[in-house]
Amino acid sequence: MTGDEASRYLTQCCNMSLDLSGETSFTNSFRIKVLKDGFLFIPRLPASYVLDNELYQKIYKIANSALYPYKSLLKQSTMYLVETSETDFGSKRAFYYPWTGISRRLTIPDMNAYLASHTNQSIEIMQDVSIDYDKVTSILIAGNSGSGKSYALTYLLTILYLKDISDLYIIDPKCDIPARWAHIYGLDNRTIFPTKEMSNSDFVNRCNEILAKLVKTIYERQRILYTDPHHKFKHLTVCIDEVLALTDGLPKKIKDSFFSLLSQISLLGRATRVHLLLISQRFSNDAIPIAVREQANICLQLGNINKKTTQFLFDVDPDGILIPTGKGTGLFQITDNAHPFQVLPLLTPTFKIKDGIL
Ligand SMILES: Nc1ncnc2c1ncn2[C@@H]1O[C@H](COP(=O)(O)OP(=O)(O)OP(=O)(O)O)[C@@H](O)[C@H]1O
Ligand SMILES: [Mg+2]
Repeated sequence: MTGDEASRYLTQCCNMSLDLSGETSFTNSFRIKVLKDGFLFIPRLPASYVLDNELYQKIYKIANSALYPYKSLLKQSTMYLVETSETDFGSKRAFYYPWTGISRRLTIPDMNAYLASHTNQSIEIMQDVSIDYDKVTSILIAGNSGSGKSYALTYLLTILYLKDISDLYIIDPKCDIPARWAHIYGLDNRTIFPTKEMSNSDFVNRCNEILAKLVKTIYERQRILYTDPHHKFKHLTVCIDEVLALTDGLPKKIKDSFFSLLSQISLLGRATRVHLLLISQRFSNDAIPIAVREQANICLQLGNINKKTTQFLFDVDPDGILIPTGKGTGLFQITDNAHPFQVLPLLTPTFKIKDGIL
């Protein structure tokens, strides 16, 4: 679609769906201008309608579905008003709607062949969306039961391990896909899951031992950075599946230690390349410390998406964002100065690895 075609098409959609008290593009009340990375809705003022957030979001909804499957509009939490290059005073301002390509799932039918042809250190999470682990602080994956959290975690584990990006510790309270993955890939000595002799408190105490070890590593690495500020450490990641299940009903003392260790790692780990990769049904304040949530810069929300489920990870109302259906779908946000800051539709990769894991 050319810029002219797109602007004609969007103008028509707005003329038909927007109720601007009889004002349309035919009455010269607004026009649409398509740019490289988005489009402008340029109202001609004075007008009988108000330029407010309600109108901005309404146009967002109309245009976002009208542009599918060519473009995906970046949802803004409030109206995005910009100055135009028009000379006429009445057209000097516009609503701006930045866009990006549509989200497309990555499919990897043969992991070995994929790794042989993708030898760089980036982690592809969708077609045309990759993350650079050097820019990652912590990763959070939320979602209802069966939404594909452990599956997405296992994908990340596979890439981190087989591309030799990070050393790993794996904590799997359900002894599910991640524990099987670790066993089959020979990482038993880096994995913990509960055994029948352990109480939940015993298990979390074991987790705390690992986390305390990581905090110690952070301090040791800080000492090295003190004299050699450009020293590059190997990434070290602790992955915890089902954090909420872990802390539910724990004695306060053990939970406090667990929370304090998580906070220390997330606050101090960035410079020393020690990361958290946490999975939970939700990331409310009873699941993880607030500091951990604030430090995380890759957030994925899978499964059921609505204002209530997304409130802990994103500050934007998901209304109007087109979310694909099926397993391993939802929303994501990457805050690393390299990607658009906005919340976008997500389809997690479908991949095939050694038998007996997934
Ligand atoms: N991206 C994907 N591609 C293909 N299949 C997927 C994808 N994501 C999830 N699935 C399927 O969905 C199933 C359930 O996913 P998973 O076990 O990861 O969910 P979960 O959120 O961890 O659930 P629970 O809360 O029960 O642990 C997987 O076994 C897999 O078959
Ligand atoms: Mg799971």
